[in-house]
Amino acid sequence: MAKRGIQDAAVHGRRVLVRVDFNVPQEPNGQVADDRRIVEALPTLNHLRAAGARTILMSHLGRPDGHRDPKFSLRPVAHRLSQLLGQPVPLAGDIVGVEALELSARLQNGQFLLLENLRFNPGEEANDPGFAAQLARLGEIFVEDAFGTVHRAHASTVGVPKRLPSFAGFLVEREMKELSRLVGTPPRPYVVLVGGAKVKDKLPLLRSFLGKADTLLIGGALANPFLAAGGVRLGATPPQSGVESDVNEFLRAADSAHTRVLLPTDVRVDRPGRPDAEVYAPTAVPDDAVVQDIGPATQARFVDALAGSQTVFWNGPLGRAEDPRFAEGTRSVVGALGGLPGYHVAAGGDSARLAQDLGVVGGFQFISTGGGAALEFVEGVELPGLAVLSDV
Ligand code: 3PG
Repeated sequence: MAKRGIQDAAVHGRRVLVRVDFNVPQEPNGQVADDRRIVEALPTLNHLRAAGARTILMSHLGRPDGHRDPKFSLRPVAHRLSQLLGQPVPLAGDIVGVEALELSARLQNGQFLLLENLRFNPGEEANDPGFAAQLARLGEIFVEDAFGTVHRAHASTVGVPKRLPSFAGFLVEREMKELSRLVGTPPRPYVVLVGGAKVKDKLPLLRSFLGKADTLLIGGALANPFLAAGGVRLGATPPQSGVESDVNEFLRAADSAHTRVLLPTDVRVDRPGRPDAEVYAPTAVPDDAVVQDIGPATQARFVDALAGSQTVFWNGPLGRAEDPRFAEGTRSVVGALGGLPGYHVAAGGDSARLAQDLGVVGGFQFISTGGGAALEFVEGVELPGLAVLSDV
């Protein structure tokens, strides 16, 4: 499903409306805490500048739910983007109002304008036709470069490309190319490493690997309901209720599909009054202890399972990695990828940032900018923001 790309668009002197995903982590004072998503959009933006386009950028930030909330203003993003591009990027505070119209009409070749947070307008998430039409009249050509948002059928991701000639930006092209390598029949052995919190959210993803991956390594709080399904109590660890039958059904399906599922055989726990992590077998977790990470024996077993693989997909922490006492499981297992051959991809949620924080970025050939979008892509779900783009 190759999409018509930005290199085929005649953009000189034209107003090009680009959907970017500048939904970046923020410091408490609103400043950009991690500019990776902005940096990754630069190839498209530099191309448009060099080609003499008049570029109007649009993005959301956070979930302000259709209300103007200064906490979610894109002003700090405009500031960071101006630094990265080395030229001022003004912000149109009214999104589709008089200011936005005037500023976009006054743009010169090679200049940029950023619209204020799209989600300040309720029409964005509702994919309101009126709002989409107002956005579309700001440009003559649409470029989709917000890979992280293509799973949303919103005005800016679906409504606008229905109204303008549409093209995929370089970031979207690259994400599609790399993640597609995991969609068909990736070279095997294919090992999938999944952590994170809620099993309900991750089951569709986990199911998509059955029969396709050789081994699934499950860690983090995600592993707890699997251990509990085997009759283990896990001390004071909060249970995830209502998932037992789904988990059991999944394990049976994995068995029939000949996909091996490896669960923690030891865990690091947090206990009241004990400053250090303690290690137990899942069956021996004390009543007052909360499971927070996989243990050293599990680490070794997971690293062993990764050795010899040709393809690896990683999503989600294997423990409460924001606490240094419980980051070791993720760091050691994911870090081991750096010394292993094969094609390694990280995607979804905070995996990219975590890889950065843990210093394990070097173990990956590709780290997606997408959260839910990347996971749905890998699951094989049709994404509305891609489906709407013109095919080659
Ligand atoms: C993301 O960070 O995953 C995207 O920007 C989409 O954000 P959303 O989940 O609020 O739609």
